[in-house]
Amino acid sequence: MIILGIESTAHTFGIGIIKASQNACQILTNCKDSYSSSDIGMIPGDIAIHHKKVATDVLKRALSEAKLSWEQIDSIAYSAGPGLDPALWAGFNFAKDLANKQNKQLIPVNHCTAHLSIGKIINHAKDPVYLYVSGVNTQVIVQQGVKNKNKQGKYKILGETLDLGMGNMLDKFARTLKLGFPGGPKIEKIAKLGSFIKLPYTVKGMDVNFSGLLTKCTQLFERKQASTKDLCFSLQEHAFAMTIEIAERAMAHTQKDELILVGGVGANKRFCEMLETMCKERGATFYNVPMSLAGDQGAMIAWEGFLRKDNYPKMEVDPHWRTDEV
Ligand code: ATP
Ligand code: FE2
Repeated sequence: MIILGIESTAHTFGIGIIKASQNACQILTNCKDSYSSSDIGMIPGDIAIHHKKVATDVLKRALSEAKLSWEQIDSIAYSAGPGLDPALWAGFNFAKDLANKQNKQLIPVNHCTAHLSIGKIINHAKDPVYLYVSGVNTQVIVQQGVKNKNKQGKYKILGETLDLGMGNMLDKFARTLKLGFPGGPKIEKIAKLGSFIKLPYTVKGMDVNFSGLLTKCTQLFERKQASTKDLCFSLQEHAFAMTIEIAERAMAHTQKDELILVGGVGANKRFCEMLETMCKERGATFYNVPMSLAGDQGAMIAWEGFLRKDNYPKMEVDPHWRTDEV
């Protein structure tokens, strides 16, 4: 079955086309065009204008790279949420017009579960604990009823951030340091030169909390009581260790022996190294996702569409659609 997936929840407008079967996802193409701004960040209205402007061109590129005609495509999947409202509508309207014009089934999918599903199929994992760490999200997730291969079980969030996502926290601190956006990669680079200082470490049961850590780092920086490199290193060490603690507890509790890291913070080598060590010590396997599939793109939407094609909700867009509501 061939599925075309459209991504438009945030700054990326992407179209991926996959050839899918029960146990395999072959990516035929994965084209995208991302909105960027060097100063003020993302303005939702401008992002929607960007998506409308580039959509036809990205589609043309995708069809030509995949060497496909419309007759060969079975269905169209699109990201219905969560995300920025204007960006979601831009994607939905484009997808709906295409589906009407080409007479194809239109499948709404959840952007977050698409990140999880592509991570699982690419790594051929069986029944993992997912650690989803992006700008907005920091969640430890499992899927129920995985043994029933014909049914997509509900996702359960076992632990999450009680305030801001880890990526956003790193970006905020980077803004204080005037490093620009996105800040995660910049902090990672500086952290390589730093040493450990003790900072607030907040784990509450299965959840984490990053604002105390961020506030302390900001204060130490503004009062010149610690060096930038030591702060970057120690901020990372604390945030990563807190998150790994709840991931490990989830693995122990569910007796699962695979962990998949998805989301943009997964690009951080130190984070992956720490997760690898934790998994090794428990005799478990650690997986992450190749860079080309870690960020937002259409192939993951297409694959999630394939998994949901027989049972999906009637909806247009939902900016607040949570993973555990899927
Ligand atoms: P979603 O809507 O799926 O949750 P998102 O747009 O919030 O996604 P992603 O695109 O998955 O986020 O990830 C972006 C985040 O990843 C940014 O906060 C960025 O700073 C962070 N990031 C990227 N590279 C690194 C890195 N090397 N180390 C740490 N953080 C990183
Ligand atoms: Fe995303």
